[in-house]
Amino acid sequence: MKRWLPNVRAFSLFGLMALLLAGCGKPFLSTLQPAGEVADEQYSLMVLSTLIMVIVIVVVSVIFIYVIIRFRRRKGDENKIPKQVEGNHKLEMIWTVIPIILLIILAVPTVTSTFKLADVSPMEEETRDENALVVNVTANLYWWEFEYPDLGVVTGQELVVPTDERVYFNLKSSDVKHSFWIPSVGGKMDTNTENINKFWLEFDQASTDKAGGLFYGKCAELCGPSHAFMDFKVVPLPRAEFDNWIQDMKTAVAEPQTDLARQGEQLFNDKSCIGCHAVSSSEKRPTAPNLTNFGDRTMIAGILEFNEENLKDWLRDPESVKPANKMSNTYGDLSEEELDALTEYLMSLKVQD
Ligand code: CUA
Repeated sequence: MKRWLPNVRAFSLFGLMALLLAGCGKPFLSTLQPAGEVADEQYSLMVLSTLIMVIVIVVVSVIFIYVIIRFRRRKGDENKIPKQVEGNHKLEMIWTVIPIILLIILAVPTVTSTFKLADVSPMEEETRDENALVVNVTANLYWWEFEYPDLGVVTGQELVVPTDERVYFNLKSSDVKHSFWIPSVGGKMDTNTENINKFWLEFDQASTDKAGGLFYGKCAELCGPSHAFMDFKVVPLPRAEFDNWIQDMKTAVAEPQTDLARQGEQLFNDKSCIGCHAVSSSEKRPTAPNLTNFGDRTMIAGILEFNEENLKDWLRDPESVKPANKMSNTYGDLSEEELDALTEYLMSLKVQD
């Protein structure tokens, strides 16, 4: 084998890995491009702890390398036993005190941030701030429900929030443990079945603009075959636009404009899609995502690009798109005409222009 081949291989592997990692840096999906107060805080903690670790690694490595070179066994004195030193007051003080100082430097901001990020007093009954927006998040296999209890609106798979203010979350799960995480904005926190976890996030307008007005959220707890596909869309809007969106959601009525869409609506009711999916923003159904603003989505089933073809693929065979989801095998085969009509109807369910 040619001698340079392993080098080329190693180099290509590193190149490939670098390329892969480069894909992790999207502003709408990266903890390293923080968007908002919580993400900023968590990012500074990451930088601080990484810095401390790097300093420790560098200092220890330098001493280690110096020692193995300086005190290595030399030719001629293989049998020489060096002077045996036991106990050194000064050195022991140094290696006890330095780690203590480092731990204090790490602990003070970490503990301070932990308390700050856990402060949910504006959503608690006794200390309730009437202006604070509260969102109830329910994680399900494999989709998310967002309820705005004070505003009477429910959405499936789509979290819309006002920018530049703290948004408070009640997190729970309807089936197994999941974890709520919006990588660019903050988290993650478990959603459990037996208790409600609470925390807050802040979405800043400047970062939202930089990310193209959209973030993505993920499930961060291995929950089943489609765990990796359990994504949701996050749309931060300026407060006034958010209020408009709430109004639009409340007044949204499905009014199919074309014959085909009307046929689709009929099918939606006949095939009992409506038995599981609500198409009104005030209806909370634990069975399946609310579809009131389905046409505003950017993803089908949380993973496919939003277009007619992908919607048809999903309706044709949900199992192949998202294994073990509850919609698989719940209805009989759809003919191509039925698929056309259902797709037309679903795509017409829009709230945003
Ligand atoms: Cu839900 Cu992973």
